[in-house]
Amino acid sequence: MTGVGSTEPAGSGGADMRGAGAGNGLYEAIQAERAKYPEGSRSATLHALRLAQEEHGWLSPDALREVADALEVTPAYCKAVATFYDMYHLAPVGTHLVEVCTNLSCALAGAQRVVDAFASELGVAPGETTGDGEVTFRTVECLGGCGYATVVAVDHRYRQFVGPDDVPAIVEELRAGS
Ligand code: FES
Repeated sequence: MTGVGSTEPAGSGGADMRGAGAGNGLYEAIQAERAKYPEGSRSATLHALRLAQEEHGWLSPDALREVADALEVTPAYCKAVATFYDMYHLAPVGTHLVEVCTNLSCALAGAQRVVDAFASELGVAPGETTGDGEVTFRTVECLGGCGYATVVAVDHRYRQFVGPDDVPAIVEELRAGS
């Protein structure tokens, strides 16, 4: 398959291009992921994006460029992949991330009331980050826990059967740094 990015074969003059990232931890970590797949495969893309997000906190244009260089594809390809998945952040996020599922099962269980409670408790609308940069709050599609609605992911850990009355304690936990 022809790559969208560099067409130089690995190990040739492409070394100059890779030099931008060679020697840094992210570049090396991405190469380790690439090595798990057949040469020329883009199967390491999701791993590479995750590694970059862990390193930078979000996938800035610079971070996407780093990933693209390491994978020998274009930044546009990396961005196209990243925009498809909720777990990649294309804008800065707070120290903590609160995600309320508003898909069908959760909606029927009253997810909107949970959303309203978080908005009121945090003082921000869904999709926003609190002024102190501590908490990003957003709504998401099905988190795969439909039998436990309403599901809220707090820093990627699921809380089940969350109701509006549970929200103040969750926010207090976050504020306390627990
Ligand atoms: S609908 Fe909320 S977890 Fe599936």
